[in-house]
Amino acid sequence: MLRTLLDARTLLAMAVALAVGVWGLRTYPLPSDNVFLALIALRRPDLHQGLQYGYATLWFTTPFFGASLLGSLFAIAMYRHAPRLTFRSLPPYIPPEDRPAPSLVLGEAHHETRPGRAPDPQWLTIPQRGLYTGVMVLGSVGTGKTSACMYPYVDQLVRWRSHDADHKLGGLVMEVKGDFCRQVQAMLRACGREADYVEVGLDSGVCYNPLHNDLDPYAVAYAIATLLNNLFGKSKEPFWQQAYTDLLKFVILLRRLTDGYTTFAEVYRYILDDKLIDRDIRKLKAALASPPDVIRLSKADHHLYDPGRAWSHWYPEDADHMAHPFDAELEGHLASLNVQYEVRPAQGDGWRARCHQMEALDRWYIHSWSRLDTRLRSSITEGIVVFLSLFDDNPAVHRAFCPPRSAYLGTRAPGDPGHRTQEPRGCHTSADLFVGDPGRGRRDRLPVRREGEGRSRPPEEGISRQRPKSPGGKTLPTRADGVSRRA
Ligand SMILES: Nc1ncnc2c1ncn2[C@@H]1O[C@H](COP(=O)(O)OP(=O)(O)OP(=O)(O)O)[C@@H](O)[C@H]1O
Ligand SMILES: [Mg+2]
Repeated sequence: MLRTLLDARTLLAMAVALAVGVWGLRTYPLPSDNVFLALIALRRPDLHQGLQYGYATLWFTTPFFGASLLGSLFAIAMYRHAPRLTFRSLPPYIPPEDRPAPSLVLGEAHHETRPGRAPDPQWLTIPQRGLYTGVMVLGSVGTGKTSACMYPYVDQLVRWRSHDADHKLGGLVMEVKGDFCRQVQAMLRACGREADYVEVGLDSGVCYNPLHNDLDPYAVAYAIATLLNNLFGKSKEPFWQQAYTDLLKFVILLRRLTDGYTTFAEVYRYILDDKLIDRDIRKLKAALASPPDVIRLSKADHHLYDPGRAWSHWYPEDADHMAHPFDAELEGHLASLNVQYEVRPAQGDGWRARCHQMEALDRWYIHSWSRLDTRLRSSITEGIVVFLSLFDDNPAVHRAFCPPRSAYLGTRAPGDPGHRTQEPRGCHTSADLFVGDPGRGRRDRLPVRREGEGRSRPPEEGISRQRPKSPGGKTLPTRADGVSRRA
């Protein structure tokens, strides 16, 4: 009871101040017969009014401060004595390995709004749904953000179902200091996931194409334009960001429509030389004038072999089949895997959707881009190439972030950039690097590092041609694995 009153001491002090103030003002109002005050009221009415208000305010504030002070002194004296409450200890901590769903224990939960130990503390836990949102850790330098938050949190996440290839969590660590990655590596090693650690870097031998994913071209373009703003400063005119986004969006869309694969270096060349854009649009128009040949695959085989890893134009042609615009390399790849496929003219909605996108591209090129003043076009181009040129002129950056499509298949075509000096040893789509739930379909947010991915593969092994058999004789999936490590 007493502690409850003490906890509400601010409220009590306010009540006391109110009562004393009302009583004081009624009993001792500002004297009206004081000759000095009467003189002030006569000569300086504003000053007299100020004095009146000040007097009234003091009747409230003085008792408030007095009551607060007394309350605080009393609280200090009271809190020194241990409360006669019985405190229960925390419930047993559930190790990450035993949790039914991924969750993050941040610490202990006590009182919500005041300090002190709660009689019935609980673990402060973020459940699975909360893990899809962000967590921000704030604190000044050296206050333990990394050691007390990042290390234990990541440790919990990587330990969850660490031996379950379908459910274990993946993650992308981006850091500038350089020591956190080593810590994560040690955590993975401790739970038997050492092979899951892949470092994308200029000299790490692992490449990554940020443009090769299932994100919408607009989302990718917007992200690049935002990056440009962060790196080189944001213009006060929204026009520039919009112009960068627009140009990047249509070039990425064009390359995806034409070849189904693109890199930063290629986008850079197309932006520098817009005759290439014109050429590709013409090529695309000619190719889509009549239903083009497509490669048709059953949905089951498509799921099994995941050719979308390197060819991103798959679309559902009917309830049971996926189709992809004909590509000789893709056909060779499927043939090498002994997959049942057929080549025939497109029939479903996919072709119409591609025509629609091609027309949108054509409209943008003729009615928007080509009509811009040449100097304005140069300014827009210059704003983008200042960033993209890095991927063209720096061989190490090019190797790491602009790998050829074949890198996603674990193979190298003669003449691929990877053969020149240090060869990229494998590739990751963004999907391989982010965390999530495989049941929800969005692979770029999923724990996607499955059995077999990220494992060593001797160069001569290449792509598996036979489907391996399970002990029971059933055919097991093989994957055209994009990750391979070569010594
Ligand atoms: N509550 C604590 N008790 C004891 N040592 C602590 C505590 N918090 C941090 N430290 C120690 O302080 C040092 C700095 O901690 P840490 O690197 O986690 O801080 P940080 O907030 O991440 O710093 P920075 O802002 O530089 O990244 C570490 O050696 C850590 O062990
Ligand atoms: Mg830190």
